[in-house]
Amino acid sequence: MKLLLKGGRIVNPAQGFDAIADILIENGHIIEMGDQLSAEGAEVFDAQGFVVAPGLIDMHVHLREPGLEAKEDIVSGTRAAAAGGFTTIACMPNTKPVVDSAIIVSGILHRAQYEGVVNVKVIGALSKGQLGTELAEIGDMILTGAVAISDDGSSLNNNSLLKTGLEYTSMFHCPVITHSEDDSLVEDGVMHEGAVSAMLGMKGRPAVAEDIAVARDIMLAEYADAKLHIAHVSSKGAVELIRQAKKKGVNVTAEVTPHHLTLTDEAVKSFDTATKVNPPLRSADHVAALIEGLQDGTIDAIATDHAPHAFEEKDMEYKQAPSGFTGMETALGVILTGLYHTGKLTLLELIERMSTAPARILGLKAGTIEVGSPADITIFDADLEWVVDSSKFYTRGKQTPFDKKALKGKAVATIVNGKFVMRNGEVCT
Ligand code: DOR
Repeated sequence: MKLLLKGGRIVNPAQGFDAIADILIENGHIIEMGDQLSAEGAEVFDAQGFVVAPGLIDMHVHLREPGLEAKEDIVSGTRAAAAGGFTTIACMPNTKPVVDSAIIVSGILHRAQYEGVVNVKVIGALSKGQLGTELAEIGDMILTGAVAISDDGSSLNNNSLLKTGLEYTSMFHCPVITHSEDDSLVEDGVMHEGAVSAMLGMKGRPAVAEDIAVARDIMLAEYADAKLHIAHVSSKGAVELIRQAKKKGVNVTAEVTPHHLTLTDEAVKSFDTATKVNPPLRSADHVAALIEGLQDGTIDAIATDHAPHAFEEKDMEYKQAPSGFTGMETALGVILTGLYHTGKLTLLELIERMSTAPARILGLKAGTIEVGSPADITIFDADLEWVVDSSKFYTRGKQTPFDKKALKGKAVATIVNGKFVMRNGEVCT
């Protein structure tokens, strides 16, 4: 089966390529690129007016399987990914049981192959049960296919265990991803500590809790000569620490979420639990520093931290509700609206941060459009205006702070291994 994408604007950061061209796909791979291509018997997709990008990669997704299927599972999560324009996602290990052994890694990979509609990569836990006391089966998990190691969902309190985990994981040239918030400083805080939390009388999670944890993570990674990736950076102090560490040559990368780039703690004034997330939405000075960090390359990637919860779990008093919300079906629109249409990122930069960079960090053969590469492609309309309606989401997690927001830019087709998995917003497999 051949597929010919005609007349789209191909934006491929891996080669600095930005021009109109055709792409011919056969047997899951790109076999030709150029002008005025034709191919007998090929299905033709008219991509005129659309951007044709290497498939977007979300390196921070909570798929919730095994054990937490009321929130999400591989079927609903990968369909949400396809709807949002993602061709590859990496899932976090804070499931039930925790992904801390090779058999669970292989179980998820096996199931995803049959039930998933996009490529699924697995991130294994650093500590057994994510309890922070003994190392998980790191080596076995990596040999079974885990692409990174992380105790995401909570900050690892045990410095010695993190040091050993970094040393061990680095032997496999694999990154450790840290959720950096110092527990003793965040305690049971529910939002960013600052003027808004004081006004609302809500317990805060201070930015310094993140700064301290990031400083510790960087120092240990430098000491262990290991590959460190900082998840969902949200504080200006953390951005500066990562900037300085990179200058020094520490092997550190970082990601930021669409919500931390575009929302502030002012959103919490609604008391809507859809604004509750860890780390929390911070004040405007932090948001400005995150954008600057993304622009100058201090922050490498954009990742959603898609963290769905069952409706009834989030539908309660702010303090009691779990943290996290769904993100894959709004990410591209939020980033195009908030960063591209405002002139803060070019399309080449945006796609680099949402595809090429995550592929590089996780060591994936993806994130580029070139002859011979797998045909994982995202086609989007950068100017399509739409209004978020979470009731129509494919994910089970219906809460999002972007519900009812008007956005400009949306994926119109997602191609995985040469086949459409989403067309015109509808998942089609
Ligand atoms: O708000 C969050 N929710 N932050 C995380 O890091 C974990 C996530 C979850 O798993 O629900």
